[in-house]
Formats: sequence, structure tokens, C-alpha cells
Amino acid sequence: MSKAPSLSRTERVLVVDDEPWITEVLTAELGLHGFHADATNDSTQVMEMLAARHYDLAILDISMPDPDGLALLTEIQKGYPHLAVLMLTALGDAETATQAMREGASDYVVKPYRTPQLIMRIERALERSDLLREQHQIRQLLERRVSEQTRTIDSQSERLGSMLDRVLSTYQATVKALEAALDVRDQSAPGHCRRVARLAVRLAARMGFSGQDLVTMEYGALLHDIGKLGIEDRILMKPGPLTNEEMDVMRGHPEIGCQIVGHIDFLQDALPIIRHHHEWYNGGGYPDGLAGSGIPLLARMFSVTDAFDAQTNQRPYNVVNSVECALENLRKSKGVTCDPQVVDEFIAMIEEQTPGD
Ligand SMILES: [Fe+2]
Ligand SMILES: [Fe+2]
Repeated sequence: MSKAPSLSRTERVLVVDDEPWITEVLTAELGLHGFHADATNDSTQVMEMLAARHYDLAILDISMPDPDGLALLTEIQKGYPHLAVLMLTALGDAETATQAMREGASDYVVKPYRTPQLIMRIERALERSDLLREQHQIRQLLERRVSEQTRTIDSQSERLGSMLDRVLSTYQATVKALEAALDVRDQSAPGHCRRVARLAVRLAARMGFSGQDLVTMEYGALLHDIGKLGIEDRILMKPGPLTNEEMDVMRGHPEIGCQIVGHIDFLQDALPIIRHHHEWYNGGGYPDGLAGSGIPLLARMFSVTDAFDAQTNQRPYNVVNSVECALENLRKSKGVTCDPQVVDEFIAMIEEQTPGD
């Protein structure tokens, strides 16, 4: 009887060779070195044995009746990619051994072998397979982490998206509430703010503005006269022409407008439109007497739109002009009240919309 193993190991090895004496010797030697070893001389049983119990290493003879070592290697690679496989090859068959290595075998040993060499090759193959298994586990862990993080990011961006939607709809509701407050108070130009906002946004888009600038134009246009909320009733609702004194009070509405919405964060960009929509291109307007390019461009664009709508829609004491007449008046206002280039763009936009007018 052989000596007891000098060390006890946990690895289990499957020996496959069609020669019974080889499997006998090999399992005995492996046992002496502390391995748990099983063996078969029938290569058709290998996949069943691998399925029935866990193995850390398989030793496959290359030359066997079907399936031979190479065919078994292919099957094992498919079902057990982390199982270490050591090929046993006959002397002079280095080519087949090399092919086995290319196809995923851990190593090969040439028969007849010397036991210490065989054990060393087995240990090396097991170490390599442990390393590969560890790498595989790390990769799986990383993949799991990445997929968890991706899921978290996805759900966070979904939450952010719906929060943003809520914020945007709150903005729109705020603007609508302010606009409605002015509509209730000043009923002299129903629908004016909505119409002028649509036109001003179209003009801005035509002149190359986009994104947030168009939103700024829309909010500024909708709220341009919000300061009229602060004008006393006897002046705002006076049925006749205003005196000079009353006119001075009325001219305060752009500044009052800025005071009303000045503390609303999301309306900051619209303040220049509200404050400067009555400035004249030649400097003769109010409240600051700005001129030319000193007037913010969005305000210059807005005031052309405002002047057009004021002429083409009914207001107390205003004659309604035809579109042609209103455009002609805009042409005359070039360089006086309005920016010539903006007027040209606006006229082109209206004429393109109503060809032949
Ligand atoms: Fe105004
Ligand atoms: Fe207006």
C-alpha cells in the first residue's frame, strides 16, 4: 500500500485515458499528492461526470476512440470554460498539443512523463485557472456594479426630468396668472399679449435666436405691460385722452413692471424686454432714453411687433389699419422709433406669410 499523502488538497481531478493502466497509475499518484482523483477509460462518459460533480482539473489523453481529447476539449470549453484542462500527448505529437493549447487547454504533458513534472504542471494549471476564475468573478462584479449604477442614473434622470417638467409648468402657470391679472384690469386690448408673443417669437427665430432666448422673448412679450397693474384706475381706465401729467404716470409702467416681476428668478432674462419696450431707436423713448444698439436687441424686436399689433387690432381711440398700411407705417418708423434692420426682417416675415398682399 502507498504512503499516506503528505498534504491534503481540496482540488478534484478527472483523469481520462483509454488505457486502464494509465488511469490507475495516475489516480494513485494524484492521491499520493493529496488530490481527489476520479478516472474513466470511456471518453463518452466525461460530460456526464463533469455535470454530476465539481472538478477543478481534467487530464485528457489526446489519442482516444471518439470523442478524442481534442473533441472533448471543445465540449468542455463550451460547458465549463473555467475548468483547467491538461492534455496528455504521445511523444512526437507536438503539433496536436500546440493545437490543443490554441483551443484553450491549460498545458500539455508528453508521455511517458515524470511524476514531479506532471505534478508541477497540474499545480501551474490550477493556479492559472484560479486566476482566470478570479478575473472572471471581478469582471462579473464590475459588470453588475455598472449595470446597477446605470439603472440608478436612469431612474434619477427620469426623476429629474419629471421635476423639470413640473418646474416648467409652474413657470408657465406663473406667467399665465400674471397675464390674466393684467387682462382683468386692462381690457383695452384683448388678446394683444398672446398675439404679440407669437409674432415676436417667430421674428426672433427668424433672426437666429433659439432655445432659452425664444422662451425669454415669449415671457417678455406676454408680460411687457404687466406694470400697468400699478397704474391707478382713474388713469388706466380713463375713457378720454390723457393729460401730460397722466401720461407721465402712465410712462412709469415699464419700471413698475420690473418691480413686480424683478424678484422672480426665472423671469430675470425677460426684464430688459419689459423695461425697454418703449425705447425709441433715435433715443426719444422711455424710461431710459436708450438709442440704437444700446437698446437690448430682444426689446427692439419686440417693439416692432408691438407697434404692428397695436395698429392692426381694435383699441379704444385707435383706427384699425390694414396690414399694408401698418407695414408702411413701420417703414416710416425706421431709424425713428424702430431699428431699421429689425423692421425689414419683420416686413419680410409678414409678406412671406401673406404672399401677394
Ligand atoms: Fe407698454
Ligand atoms: Fe403692447
